[in-house]
Amino acid sequence: MCYAIPGKVEKIENNTVIVDYFGEKRKAYNELAKINIGDYIYAQGGFVVSKISDSEAQSILSVWKETFFQLQEVDLKLSRLQLSDNNTDKKLLEILDKASQSKELTREELLYLLELKDKRKLELLFKTANFLRQKYHKNSCCVHGIIEISNYCRQGCRYCGISYHNKELRRYRMTKDEILQAAREAVQVYGFKSLVLQSGEDPGYSVLELVDIIKEIKQKFPALIFISFGEIGINGLEKLYQAGARGLLMRFETSNPKLYQDAHPDMSLESRLEHLRKAYAMGYLILTGGLIGLPGQGKEDILNDIFLAKQLHAEMFSFGPFIPHPHTPFARIKPAQHPALSDRPVRASAQVEEVIKVLALARIIDHTHAKILVTTALETLSREAAKSSLLAGANSLMLNVTPLAYRPFYSIYPDRAHQSEDISSQIESTVSLLRSLGRAPTDLEVL
Ligand code: 5AD
Repeated sequence: MCYAIPGKVEKIENNTVIVDYFGEKRKAYNELAKINIGDYIYAQGGFVVSKISDSEAQSILSVWKETFFQLQEVDLKLSRLQLSDNNTDKKLLEILDKASQSKELTREELLYLLELKDKRKLELLFKTANFLRQKYHKNSCCVHGIIEISNYCRQGCRYCGISYHNKELRRYRMTKDEILQAAREAVQVYGFKSLVLQSGEDPGYSVLELVDIIKEIKQKFPALIFISFGEIGINGLEKLYQAGARGLLMRFETSNPKLYQDAHPDMSLESRLEHLRKAYAMGYLILTGGLIGLPGQGKEDILNDIFLAKQLHAEMFSFGPFIPHPHTPFARIKPAQHPALSDRPVRASAQVEEVIKVLALARIIDHTHAKILVTTALETLSREAAKSSLLAGANSLMLNVTPLAYRPFYSIYPDRAHQSEDISSQIESTVSLLRSLGRAPTDLEVL
């Protein structure tokens, strides 16, 4: 199974290669030593990941060729936009028409969209976001694998089930061999081209040990590596970049300093932002975002969050719902403050809609650049959420490739979706979902 389509190198300009995918030209940054015109490569996140033999590429492409154009057609059909006149909300139509023409919306207009509740109006908003997704990103959808290497954490985020507040949790830390084995399986058996290595802030691994692990993965199982180990320090970020990590997944959680302080009394928003800014300057791809539904959070805050992610040059936006965890200080956030807690099934669906609205807004605010992730937290609230999100501007997924035995212990929130699904069944359902929506797992900047 593969999550990227092989491309043929057409042009090389210094470190940039132009790659052909069935006639579509895309651009990628190359750090591999021997790439020549005519070679077949895999690329992810704008980076060349590996070279593959002509014969392997031809056989994969012959399978893809049949479906590639069919998929594009399905996607095009599903993303057609008709802002009909018979809808009475003239203001909404005007705003969405402006958005669909890629014009910048005012803050007041964006807030108007965030306030929408009516199903039919929301549908139009989601369709507009989907239209923009198709227009600028075509039908590509990136699918990363995530390995949760340790659930030890020295931080006390008051909402998080693996923070030190949770005294009930069995802690685990994968050994280097276990991590390499999981990476091998993801890359060699299942064909993942990009991996996220994630843990709590675990002092149990030194930066040098992490360097060692990343170097060995890069050498043996070529993939684009994202790190998500919390605040490891600027020096740590530098060392891991040198080791071969190219992406940083770190949410700022909320852009509102007061809410940040309430949720993280011992931490500082500034320090987090410093990590994100310096990482970008070092060359990391930035994956960031925040929690939707923190107590006290308002629409203005959420809008600021989207703008902050954009300002931080997010390559990918990661916004997901806050889900209370019973063994944390935020366990008993009152229903008035947190809709998901009262009358759960009904309220949860309202919360799902709130999050998808944020994804759609993110697509409207940053239509050309960022990928938008469907988070597992959102899928935890609704099985339909991945499909609805992909039809509302999102174009990215992460599958859990952590060994099954460890998964229940990475309990940042309860009842996580896909927790007990092995890798092949996650892949199977993802591929069938993507196919039904006309999406292809390519992952490069469209020229
Ligand atoms: N609900 C939803 N997401 C959570 N995270 C941590 N705790 C929760 C929760 N209770 C998210 C944080 C963190 C990421 C790894 O998990 O946003 O950045």
